[in-house]
Amino acid sequence: MQDIWHFPRKELTGKLTNAIRYNIIHSFTLFAPRRIGKTYFLNY
Ligand SMILES: Nc1ncnc2c1ncn2[C@@H]1O[C@H](COP(=O)(O)OP(=O)(O)O)[C@@H](O)[C@H]1O
Ligand SMILES: [Mg+2]
Repeated sequence: MQDIWHFPRKELTGKLTNAIRYNIIHSFTLFAPRRIGKTYFLNY
């Protein structure tokens, strides 16, 4: 069953990967409290 509290963040993912790909930025920081999904976001 789909968990209503979690959803894909394709727009954010696309912005970050495109900014890296086209050398607009060379790094970024994910800054948020623990257990908010930072590692999960990077891995998937
Ligand atoms: N989009 C998501 N959908 C389902 N579960 C998620 C999602 N993002 C995070 N989780 C779960 O939430 C928990 C915390 O995520 P995690 O990435 O380890 O947090 P952080 O790195 O910010 O401390 C983990 O058990 C992870 O599997
Ligand atoms: Mg983490």
